[in-house]
Order: sequence, then C-alpha cells, then structure tokens
Amino acid sequence: MALIEWRDEFSLGIAEVDHEHRELIDLINAAYAHMQDDESAAEIDDFLGEIYARIAAHFALEEKMMRERGYDQLAEHKSEHETLLDDIRDLMDAYEDGVLSGETELAAKLQAWFTEHFRTQDARLHRKLG
Ligand SMILES: [Fe+2]
Ligand SMILES: [Fe+2]
Repeated sequence: MALIEWRDEFSLGIAEVDHEHRELIDLINAAYAHMQDDESAAEIDDFLGEIYARIAAHFALEEKMMRERGYDQLAEHKSEHETLLDDIRDLMDAYEDGVLSGETELAAKLQAWFTEHFRTQDARLHRKLG
C-alpha cells in the first residue's frame, strides 16, 4: 500500500504545482516501498537524498515565486519549508544511525507534513497568487 495516497483535496488547481506535488508523493511512496522490501541501506539512503533534493528544489521554486510577487506570508511559509527540510535531515541522520523506527516513524512524519503543508500554506499561496 502506498504511504501517501493522492487525494482530490490536495489539488490546488494549478497544473504545474499539482504535478510537482504528485511527483514528490510518488517519490516518497517509492522510498517507502523500498524500505518495506528491505533493500540495502545504501539504496534507501540514495532515495532519501533524492527526496531531499527534489523537495528543496520545489521549495526554492515556491519561494522565488513568493519573493517576485511580494507574497504577504513569505516569511511564515519559508520558515515552514525550513522546518520540513530540517526534519528530513534528521530522519536521514536517524536512518544512517540505525535509530529510525523504520517505516512507521517515517510514514507518520512525511504524511503529516505533506498533507498539512499542501492543504494550508501551499493552498493559501496558490489561491492568492494563482
Ligand atoms: Fe510550500
Ligand atoms: Fe508545495
């Protein structure tokens, strides 16, 4: 079973953004599937690194857009992005140290962030700047 199922409520109605959000979800689901298949730590690590890079790029794109358009909640949105990235770093470190309680912890965290961030900050951003 996929970790995060795409739901209609995630859709912001902007094709480009929805496409990127779907890609992020696919990537996270793939990482989760690899973990469940008990693949080597190096492979999982590569996946987590890829997720981090893709998410960072996506956030950078949103922040650029917010700066260019003078978005009123740039600081707040950006700080949420930074928290998410820090959390991913922590998860990667925990995984490397072998103290990540596997799927459950990763699953719970990623799912909570993404569903929340899409629905709140991103939804507002795209509603405003649409
Ligand atoms: Fe965002
Ligand atoms: Fe986003």
